[in-house]
Order: sequence, then structure tokens, then C-alpha cells
Amino acid sequence: MQTELVVALDYPNTDAAEKLMQQLSGLDVIYKVGLELFLGAGPNWVKNLGRLGTRVFLDLKFHDIPNTTGQAVVQAAKLGAEFVTVHLCGGKLMLDEIDTRLQEALISGEITQKPKVLGVTVLTSFKEEDWIANIAHFARIDSVRSIQESVFLYASLANDHPAIHGIVCSPKEVDMVRTKYKDLFLMVPGIRPKGSALNDQTRVMTPGDAMKAGASAIVVGRPITQSPDPRKVAEEILKEIGKL
Ligand code: C5P
Repeated sequence: MQTELVVALDYPNTDAAEKLMQQLSGLDVIYKVGLELFLGAGPNWVKNLGRLGTRVFLDLKFHDIPNTTGQAVVQAAKLGAEFVTVHLCGGKLMLDEIDTRLQEALISGEITQKPKVLGVTVLTSFKEEDWIANIAHFARIDSVRSIQESVFLYASLANDHPAIHGIVCSPKEVDMVRTKYKDLFLMVPGIRPKGSALNDQTRVMTPGDAMKAGASAIVVGRPITQSPDPRKVAEEILKEIGKL
């Protein structure tokens, strides 16, 4: 499987997003629409991207009761999103419901294709001590697990569930998860081409190293969006991962 490049459209409105997409037009990339742009642009804008043939990763990280999450994933599918995210801490019943609802929507003709559902494990913004403090609120102290152990448990839930195509994981975990799970789709943010600013990412990898570690797709935001020449940066990354 060849590693894909996902460009994060982290903008508050459509003007800046459309300008960037124009600069990158014709390149083999997937666009990630997160909460900020989704709320700024609205669902119809996203639907229109799909209609124009743009590949969309709708990163809204759903986490709710099974019924609500299942319905939300169907709505995301109706917008034409190729990838959607849900929090794996929603548990197996939530994932079961997603599976059922997508299957029903496919049979009824409400959707023509199921989206690839990706599970969020532990948010990469957590530092080890914050994660431990966070779960210690809910668990007995002797059952507290490190980030790595937790990601591994979530990865196993994702791997065993038919509703889940893959997971989002940090550069720190990609190698470990890929060694155990050969077929899981691994969406990896925290990517920095050699020499570019870290911004607020702490654990980073270059595009080439992430590809070698087993990333199915790499997510790149600021190194492209804040560059004076976004097309050049995107082309260099595509070359590094063998897509150009
Ligand atoms: O600008 P930068 O390349 O750091 O952007 C990374 C993108 O990936 C952002 O949209 C960020 O929200 C997202 N992301 C992340 N870590 C995660 C999940 C998503 O950095 N665990």
C-alpha cells in the first residue's frame, strides 16, 4: 500500500482553504477538514468538494452514545467523506452501531459507498504525566496504563472490529503498531519535513521515515499551509514518499 499525503485545511473559513487547494491543484492529495473549518464552512461546502471529486477526510472525531454516533457517521458519508474519525473510547457497542447504520444506509441507497472509519486512540497532545493523571480520576491506580499500552489496547479493538478501517496514531507509536497489525490503516500526523519548524508538535517524523515505519497516510498542516510556496513543499513531500 502506497503512503498517501493528507493536507490539513486548518482554516476558519473557505477563502483560505480554497486558495490553498487552488495552489495544490492537480496534486495527488487528500484534504482534511477538521472542526474549525467544518463549523466555519458548513456541510454543503464539504459536500461540494466531494461532488468535484476532491478526496475528503472529515476529521470530526465523533464520540457519543451508539445511536447518535452511528447516525452522525451516516451523515458524514452522505457528504461524500472518504475518511471519518471516531474516538475508540466510545467502545465496541458504538462501533457495532456504526457498522449497522452504514450497512442499512448502503442497502437503502441513502449512501453509495461506506466511508473508511478511523479510530482515534490517545490524542497526541497528551504528555505521559497528564494522561496518567487523567485516567487516574476514573480508574484504580494499579490499573493505570501508559500511553503506549493504551494505544496498543485501542489498536487491538480497532483491528478486531469490522467497522474500523484503521487508527490515527502518532509517529511515536507507528512502528510498534505496524509490527503487530500488518493490515490496519495508520493515519499519522506530527509530520515535519527536514528543516521545518516543529510548531507545537513534540514527537515528529519526516515523511520518508513515517513511510518506512509503516504509515498508510501522513497528515501535514503548517509546513505546507504556512509556507510561502505551499506547492513546492507538497511536491517535495510527494517525491519523498514516492508519489511524484
Ligand atoms: O500543522 P500540523 O502539521 O501540526 O497539523 C497536524 C494536523 O493533524 C492538525 O489538523 C491536527 O489537528 C491533526 N492531528 C494531530 N494529532 C492528532 C490528531 C490530529 O496533530 N493526534
